[in-house]
Amino acid sequence: MAKPVEITETVLRDAHQSLIATRMTTDEILPIVEKLDQIGYHSLEAWGGATFDACLRFLNEDPWERLRKIKDKAKNTPIQMLFRGQNILGYRHYADDVVEYFVQKSIANGVDILRIFDALNDPRNLECAINACKKEKGHVQATVCYTISPVHDIESFTKLAKQLEDMGADSICIKDMAGLLLPYTAYDLVKAMKATVKVPIQLHTHYTSGEASMVYLKAIEAGVDVIDCAMSPMAMGTSQPPTEPIVAALQGTPYDTGYDLDKLVEISEYFKPLREKYIESGLMNAKVMGVDVNTLKYQVPGGMLSNLVSQLKQQGREDAFDEVLKEVPRVREDLGYPPLVTPSSQIVGTQAVLNVLMGERYKMISKETKGIVRGEYGKCPVDIKPEIVEKIIGDEERITCRPADKIENELDKLTKECAEWIEQPEDVLSYALFGQVAVKFFEYRRAQKYKIDADLVDMENKTYPV
Ligand code: CO
Repeated sequence: MAKPVEITETVLRDAHQSLIATRMTTDEILPIVEKLDQIGYHSLEAWGGATFDACLRFLNEDPWERLRKIKDKAKNTPIQMLFRGQNILGYRHYADDVVEYFVQKSIANGVDILRIFDALNDPRNLECAINACKKEKGHVQATVCYTISPVHDIESFTKLAKQLEDMGADSICIKDMAGLLLPYTAYDLVKAMKATVKVPIQLHTHYTSGEASMVYLKAIEAGVDVIDCAMSPMAMGTSQPPTEPIVAALQGTPYDTGYDLDKLVEISEYFKPLREKYIESGLMNAKVMGVDVNTLKYQVPGGMLSNLVSQLKQQGREDAFDEVLKEVPRVREDLGYPPLVTPSSQIVGTQAVLNVLMGERYKMISKETKGIVRGEYGKCPVDIKPEIVEKIIGDEERITCRPADKIENELDKLTKECAEWIEQPEDVLSYALFGQVAVKFFEYRRAQKYKIDADLVDMENKTYPV
């Protein structure tokens, strides 16, 4: 039965992560939060993903303070964050005590909805964060990462969604991080999931391949409950579909969001000059603003394609691009068809480059490729063939349990390590995730406090996976 569709506004998180390497500052965000809060959005995605890292690394900002300030101005709308399962927001697996403490502090500082995902779709990597979120009375949105492979189909995604619901998910997100979902597939996928799980289904996609607005329309017809959109000046390209046209398209239909289009236009006016500013500074460039249909052709995320190009450029081997693109699916098959999202996209991409440049497959093997085969990242969608295991790690032992079961609690140790910098309990979590990057920020913060003009922070350039 048709009913109003709800929208999660991503302009404060994924949109600027996708378009301008997550560089929107708290000062740019705060003046518009009260207006965003009046729309009646399902939620404001405003934290997590790369926002935390970028605050500390590039903006000299305390991510916790940003969260508290946004929450203070958004009295009516739930705040949503993106949470990478046992990786939290970092790039390795953390012990359960760190995951639990992070969830507790996120909710205490203002997060209402945690969207929790794992790159391999291994539910065991979501277990700890889901339980912690339940304990803190947060909303658990468990995620199915969408990908295309011979072993992924509507049935397997639906089965996973059911499993996540049984683990306690309050809603399910279909996360199409690469923009691979096509409109009619989206229809069938949402239909199947709606028939299988009782909790609401939310759909997240990117405009990268040019399909996203059509994908949403078909998903809406299939009964999707919530979709992710971004205010138009920060939409499209590698970001989400624009909010205002979707709202307009549904007006007067049973799916009508009921949002006030005039108010949305006002908000849009606020972001227009910011967009101009980012374009002028070069932060937002033509590469992320258009449609890249190669995403569909090669079935790899746009960001991964550009990473491959730059890796090959560094080696002076741009000529090998086509060969590497053919090698990517082979490596992915060898490693048990992981979805391509951080960190698996980097691991598969780098190994494909090594295989081609060395002129022999697996002559040189990255530490991370070995890690995947050892089971350190969790269980891959299909078992890795014995001959590949043999080739990559020989007769080394493999992990078959939940990877975090092998990690001793580490919160006490981390607390001792950064004791001299602690000004609020949350600081230990910043340190746990980003080590020296956090320490540099703590030094900067201290210098500011004592009004010492110290240029202590390294402003190195780094791009972020979405
Ligand atoms: Co995204």
